[in-house]
Amino acid sequence: MAKVTIIGAGQTGATTAHWLAERELADLVLLDIVEGMPQGKALDLTEALPVIGSDVKVIGTNNYKDTAGSDIVVITAGLPRKPGMSRDDLLETNTNIIRAAVEQSLEESPNAILIILTNPLDVMSQAAMMIGGLPRERVIGQAGILDSARMRAFVSMELGISVQNIHCYVLGGHGDSMVPLTRHSNVAGVPLNVILSPERLDAIVQRTRKGGGEIVGLLKTGSAFYAPSAALAQMVEAILKNRHLVVPASVYLDGEYGQSGIFFGVPAQLGADGLEKVIEYDLNDEEQAALEASAEHVHQTIKGLKEKLNIAA
Ligand code: APR
Repeated sequence: MAKVTIIGAGQTGATTAHWLAERELADLVLLDIVEGMPQGKALDLTEALPVIGSDVKVIGTNNYKDTAGSDIVVITAGLPRKPGMSRDDLLETNTNIIRAAVEQSLEESPNAILIILTNPLDVMSQAAMMIGGLPRERVIGQAGILDSARMRAFVSMELGISVQNIHCYVLGGHGDSMVPLTRHSNVAGVPLNVILSPERLDAIVQRTRKGGGEIVGLLKTGSAFYAPSAALAQMVEAILKNRHLVVPASVYLDGEYGQSGIFFGVPAQLGADGLEKVIEYDLNDEEQAALEASAEHVHQTIKGLKEKLNIAA
């Protein structure tokens, strides 16, 4: 059985374990700094397994030794946003948390593939790669599946058509500058910009961009966790089952889409070795300009990160 460790047993980490346990994909380790909480959640989940008929092992711990030999380490540890905070406001605190998580995880699981959720997502993924000294194939940030799923949900609500028929592609940085590609998105093969009026489409695009903030505003404490954890579980499954699945994800770019040196949301093919390939879409001038503006924002935040990690920009 494969082994998956989830660092941060909070809302998203624990719910990721829930989705994964149901799919009986791997033994699971939930790790957190809070004592007792990961153990309690793991025991509770273990006690659910007879009901759902899953034979995986789930343990909770505060000790990285228990994570040894993990195939995948999912990092959700960090501070979540409070109302009024942007994802970038979390840079300082979460960089320190990512450093501890990456260093200690790799000591126990030197070959693990890392999947990052902690915000600001693109920058924390880059921090994980730099701190771990890892090749780009082994660090993948979750953002695009979530942003695209939000857009898919909104299109489904608007049209009353199954979510399974709706394919949306949101690229770019995981922030307000993200780029929902309406021309490439479609409903059962019909492009979104054909099936929806410009006004309705624009409303859906705007709601998608602010999707995380909408949930933060409603919850008041904490941020979204069902959809983010479902997205993490899909990435874990794609890797463990070597699916060669193309999903929007944040990966380190090396010239693709005209960008280098940043993590950025693009269509990425995932398989047993992690990132297999970046898929390049044919973009028109408007789409390319929107991606460049989004990339500029990520470049700026990366500068702050490099200063923090003492790496020359
Ligand atoms: N090591 C391990 N766990 C840690 C550490 C650390 N150094 N620092 C914090 N944690 C744990 C917290 O104790 C908490 O249980 O991370 C968990 C985060 O869980 P939640 O606060 O419930 O946050 P969640 O909603 O799951 O969001 C997780 O996703 O949206 C991003 O940036 C956001 O970092 C946040 C992450």
